[in-house]
Amino acid sequence: MKTLNHIHGQWQPATNGRVFDVRNPADESLIAQVPDSGVEDASRAVDAAVAALARWKSTTAQERAQVLKRWHALIVQNTEAIAALISREQGKPLAEGRGEVAYSAGYVEWYAEEAVRANGEMIPAPVASKRFFVLKEAVGVVAVVTPWNFPAAMIARKIAPALAAGCTVVAKPAEDTPLTSLLLVELAEQAGVPPGVLNIVTASRERTPEVVGVWLADGRVRKISFTGSTQVGKLLARESAGTLKKLSLELGGNAPFIVFDDADVDAAVEGLMAAKFRNGGQTCVSPNRVYVHQAVHDRFVDKLATRVGALRVGPATSPDAEIGPMINGRAVEKIERHVKDAVAKGARAVVGGHRVRSEIAQGPNYYAPTVLVNATREMELSCEETFGPVVPVFRFDSEAEVIALANDTPFGLAGYFYSQDVRRIWRVASALETGIVGINEGAISAPSAPFGGVKESGYGREGSHWGLEDYMHTKYLCQGNL
Ligand code: SIN
Repeated sequence: MKTLNHIHGQWQPATNGRVFDVRNPADESLIAQVPDSGVEDASRAVDAAVAALARWKSTTAQERAQVLKRWHALIVQNTEAIAALISREQGKPLAEGRGEVAYSAGYVEWYAEEAVRANGEMIPAPVASKRFFVLKEAVGVVAVVTPWNFPAAMIARKIAPALAAGCTVVAKPAEDTPLTSLLLVELAEQAGVPPGVLNIVTASRERTPEVVGVWLADGRVRKISFTGSTQVGKLLARESAGTLKKLSLELGGNAPFIVFDDADVDAAVEGLMAAKFRNGGQTCVSPNRVYVHQAVHDRFVDKLATRVGALRVGPATSPDAEIGPMINGRAVEKIERHVKDAVAKGARAVVGGHRVRSEIAQGPNYYAPTVLVNATREMELSCEETFGPVVPVFRFDSEAEVIALANDTPFGLAGYFYSQDVRRIWRVASALETGIVGINEGAISAPSAPFGGVKESGYGREGSHWGLEDYMHTKYLCQGNL
């Protein structure tokens, strides 16, 4: 396990010598201490990335693809070790940890293959003596700031396209889960990523603004890619305006999940289980508001309650656990606040509605998988992402009403609906104000698909060829006097 910063190919402590604790959310035991970096470390990381840029950018796409292919192979070979570390520092069950490793490796493989397809264009010129060409070029040094909920996948889906495009990287993983990222960087180094091309520094919650502040102010950093809250995304947009950086912001969601009266109710329940309870509900695309047509409401709720009531809560070390601990005490307090507020305003818990402490789930961070009925738009959980295993069910009567409700939010990351009417499918898919729509499907994420939002859920796309374009700019060449 690596517990140091990685700058210009060297593993090193923070210049100030400070460290912070990384704890297991299952029981809050100490796993490791990592550098609590500051201004000097952040600046040195940029110096290293700048020094490495010209050379990395001028390697061929095939050479960069080979490095990424080796990184992919090493990630796959080390699946068990990475999955165990994800589960230990993030809390998700081991099977989900393995799934996240495969998902992460998928991004690295995708961008190894995509690197060699960063084609430009030749445009017919309006004058015979001229030729117009368009090249795609690396944007330069990229700062990558990642969240704790997918400690491997989020770093992989930002760093892989950055390296494929020819960019160099300074990265800061979430303070709750830095160890998985450090392990992935170690494997990238083994795969042949040259010194300075990929630099990573860790920092506590308190010191993160200092590190990211250096990157925001430094005009040599040409792009920031961030996944996290809308509040922080807006701050990054404001603070990076001084040097007008390119931004990819994958921010908060408030996903609607709609079950129409013509839906296959069993499929809708299964789709919701997959979408909602992945990572214990701690996912940006997790359904936050479940709208069920009154004609199928009771049938849907009965089936859902049976499935949710059977979910087993426990630490990643328990082979039966399907829902792990929440990431920390603040996360559980927010869930508790949302549920209390909903119940005070008329919701009823059909399943759950409380914290869990059991023989296997001993720590303070467990919350019971919960189904609330009689949810209304006055409740906090209808306006704010709960980020936990809570399903609030709202009733609706008509398509127009539910579309208005679904879009009545500043957020627009993912939306889902279940219907078997082909006309309705196309109508609703275009009416939903979200960047991603799951149609009769709860599992929507894939390296080959463009992930990202609209409205206050951010901009930019990750995954697919659009994810590579976000790390490149377009250069137009005009050759004359021919
Ligand atoms: C996220 O929660 O930010 C990412 C989820 C995903 O990639 O499916």
